[in-house]
Amino acid sequence: MAQDDLLKKLISHSKEYGFVFPSSEIYDGLSAAYDYGQLGTELKNNIKSYWWAAMVRMHENIVGLDSSIFMHPMTWKASGHLDAFNDPLIDNKDSKKRYRADVLIEEHVAKIEAKIDKDIAKAKKRFGDAFDETQFRETNPNVLRRQQEIDGINAKFKAAMDVEDLDAVKQLIVDLDITDPDTGSKNWTDVRQFNLMFKTELGAVSGDSGVIYLRPETAQGIFVNFLNVQKTGRMKVPFGIAQIGKAFRNEIIARQFIFRMREFEQMEMQFFVKPGTQKEWYDYWKEQRIKWHNALRLGAENYRFHDHVKLAHYADAACDIEFNFPMGFKELEGVHSRTDFDLTRHEEYSGKKLQYFDPEENKNYVPYVVETSIGLDRMFLAVLSAAYQEEKLEDGSERTVLRIPPALAPVKAAVLPLLKKDGLPEKAREILADLQVDFNCQYDEKDAIGRRYRRQDAIGTPYCITVDHDTLEDHSVTIRERDSMTQDRVAIDKVHSIIAERVSMRNLLKQ
Ligand code: GAP
Repeated sequence: MAQDDLLKKLISHSKEYGFVFPSSEIYDGLSAAYDYGQLGTELKNNIKSYWWAAMVRMHENIVGLDSSIFMHPMTWKASGHLDAFNDPLIDNKDSKKRYRADVLIEEHVAKIEAKIDKDIAKAKKRFGDAFDETQFRETNPNVLRRQQEIDGINAKFKAAMDVEDLDAVKQLIVDLDITDPDTGSKNWTDVRQFNLMFKTELGAVSGDSGVIYLRPETAQGIFVNFLNVQKTGRMKVPFGIAQIGKAFRNEIIARQFIFRMREFEQMEMQFFVKPGTQKEWYDYWKEQRIKWHNALRLGAENYRFHDHVKLAHYADAACDIEFNFPMGFKELEGVHSRTDFDLTRHEEYSGKKLQYFDPEENKNYVPYVVETSIGLDRMFLAVLSAAYQEEKLEDGSERTVLRIPPALAPVKAAVLPLLKKDGLPEKAREILADLQVDFNCQYDEKDAIGRRYRRQDAIGTPYCITVDHDTLEDHSVTIRERDSMTQDRVAIDKVHSIIAERVSMRNLLKQ
C-alpha cells in the first residue's frame, strides 16, 4: 500500500471505529487538535501502562511524578525556552500562509532524495540479485550529483542557523526557487524566529507579571522537583524520575494527523547520574529503549537510530529513535545526555542549591542527566501504522485487521453468542461477567458471526469467544485468534487463564 494512502486510511479508520476524532468536529474541527475516542483512550492507556511498568515498576531506582502544567515563569527563563525555543518561520504574502523555513528546505531536500530512491529502485529492477546499492550510490553519476546538491543545501542551511543568519535562510529559499506548496507563489516575507510556547495569564494578576506559559515539555517539572523526590524518596544517584503528561507547543505547521500536534502527551524520564558516567548511562538507555520497542514486534526494520550531529548547547550526546511512519522515517523518541545544564541553570535562577550529597564520594555535586523522551501520540500512531492491514482471504473475501500487540489491544476479548436465543446470550453474559473483571471486553450478538469477527478484527481484538449450542452441553467455547483466524475448542473454566496468559504485559516486560 502506498505510504500516503496508509495515512489517509488510518485517519478514516481511526474515526470510523472510535480511535481518534478531529477536535470539536461539530464546529468543523480545530487544526492539529484531536480527541481520543472510546478505543483510542484504551490503546493510549495501555501504551502508558507498558511504559510505566517498564520504566518505573521494573527499575527500583526510578520513581514517578505528576507535576503541574503551569510552572513559575522563571522556569522557562532558566531552561532556555523563553529565549531559544524558536522555529524560523516565513509567510507567503500572496497565500497568507505561514511555513517553517527549515521544513520548506527539508521538503526540497526530500524531493531530491526521492529522485535518488527512484534511480536506485530502477537499477535494482534492472540488475536483480546482482545489485549492490552501496556501490551504486558511490559510483552512479546522477546519484553523486544529487547527493552533492543535498550536502550543499544542508551545509548552507546549517551555517546560516548556527549564527542565526535569518537573511541567509531566506536567500537559500529564494535561490532554491522554493514555492508555496499550496499556491506556487514565490512572494515570501523575511524569515523570523517564532517562540513555540503558549502564553496565558494568571487569574488575578494583570500585565506582564501575570504571564505564564503552558509547559512545552514535562521534563522541567522533574528538574525543579529533583531534590524533593531525592530527599523524600531517599534516592541514591543514579536514580530516575518518570512522568507522563501533556505538553504544548504552538507549532507553526502541525499536520500529519497526530504526529505533530499543538497539544500532545509526553512520557519522559530523567536519569540523574554521577558526572563522568553519563556516556555509559546514555548507551544503557539507548539499549533499554530500543528493547522496549522491539518487544512489541512492530518490526525491527521499522526502527533506526539517528545520532544528532548538531547538538543542543546543553547536550553532550543525543539521538532520535526514528520509526517508519506512513510519512517515512521520523522521530518517535529522543535519548539525550543533557549534562548538568538544567539543574545548574535552576540553581542559578532560583538561588537554591540543587545538589546531591554523595556518601561514597563524601561530597556534593550537581548530577548529570540522561533523558528518555517519547511522544505518546507518536507511539500510538506507530502502533496503528504497523498494525493496519488489508487482507484478501482464501475464500476471496477481504478483511481489515489491526494486528495490535495483544497486551496493547483496546479490547482483549469479544464474547459472541452464535444466536440471539436458546439461552446462548445468557451463557455468553456469564462468561463476559467473569472476564470483564480483569479485561476490557465487548459483547456482541448482532449480525452473522462472520460479520462480528470482521468488526473485532477491525478494532484489533485478539480473541473472540463464541458460545454455541454445544456450549450448553459440554461447557466449552470456541476461541478464535485474530491473526491466524484459527479456532480452538476450550473448556469454559480455562478461558480466563488462556486470555490472561496471552494478553499479559509480562510477555513484553520479560523480553
Ligand atoms: N524533554 C525533551 C523533549 O521535549 P523533544 O525531542 O522536543 O524533546 C520529545 O520531544 C518527544 O515528544 C519527541 O520525540 C516526540 O515524540 C514528541 N513530540 C514533540 N513535539 C511533538 C508534537 N508537536 N506533537 C506530538 N509529539 C511531539
